[in-house]
Amino acid sequence: MKRILKGVAAAGILALAVTGITAGSSSAASKKLIVVGFAQTGSESGWRAANTLSMKAAFSKANGFKLIFNAADNKPEAQIAAVHSFINQRVNAIVIAAVVVTGWDNVLKEAKAAKIPVFLEDRTINASKSLYATWLGDNFLKEGTTAGLWAKQMVGSTPTNMVVLEGTTGSAPAIDRAKGFNAAIAGSPIKLLDSQTGNFTRAGGKTVMEGFLQKYGKTINLLFAQNDDMGLGALDAIKAAGLTPGKDIKIVSIDGTHDGLTALSQGEFNYVVECNPLLGAGVATLVKAVLAGKSVPKANTAHDGAFNQAQATAALPTRKY
Ligand code: AHR
Repeated sequence: MKRILKGVAAAGILALAVTGITAGSSSAASKKLIVVGFAQTGSESGWRAANTLSMKAAFSKANGFKLIFNAADNKPEAQIAAVHSFINQRVNAIVIAAVVVTGWDNVLKEAKAAKIPVFLEDRTINASKSLYATWLGDNFLKEGTTAGLWAKQMVGSTPTNMVVLEGTTGSAPAIDRAKGFNAAIAGSPIKLLDSQTGNFTRAGGKTVMEGFLQKYGKTINLLFAQNDDMGLGALDAIKAAGLTPGKDIKIVSIDGTHDGLTALSQGEFNYVVECNPLLGAGVATLVKAVLAGKSVPKANTAHDGAFNQAQATAALPTRKY
């Protein structure tokens, strides 16, 4: 949470908090509740579970909100239908963690016509900035860059065969992490053998890694998993193939969940880049600010770190998610 507040402060939003419009101010309980529809992607990962908890805690009755929660099972059409339903229910604000970056124009125009402000949480979209109030999330491009720079430095001049487990096709983190990673490893002796989506899930990571191992066997030296869950699923496939994760196949992943850091601490992952899911309090502050007529920055980036084995071991006892 400290980290989010740091990010939020850097973006100038903490100023709003000290002027008394934070979620949870004592006067909130006596006022009419703010009705917020939240269109969540689904429940694909440990990161997502932590993000949902953070949003539900921040958009609580005690903080002055009534939250209408929808999880779209990572189906873009279901998520757009949920937003339509929020508009029909005349909610005061809509928060979206977009499954994919495209397809948003029409429903966002409808929200605008109905004078309902839209807030992007976690994921960015391809749409005109005039169609939403603001975005708060993590810098996916930077996460990919950090993972790629680690891989480049780790392999040095050794020829290395890599496979990639991609997140949900068309999602902002899958697009931006790939972009950042690929740019960072340019000029290195890392050769891409294969890259396929595991949909950010453990089951997907396991299945796709099994396919990679059948096809490329022991020639695989490096796995870039675009989130912890897919990397954790891949561990099962690697062990079943008689190989040792972290040694025969080096693994770099993104998220920094408790399970991901545990794998790193135990030497089964080799490096983890953080993506902070605890965005709820920051988003709630932005919603209250915009509804109070305050101006807020259009983009608000949370601060993320990265972990090697020793740092993961040190972080685990107090890790919140
Ligand atoms: O948008 C954030 C990504 O979505 C996380 O990295 C992943 O775990 C989640 O499902």
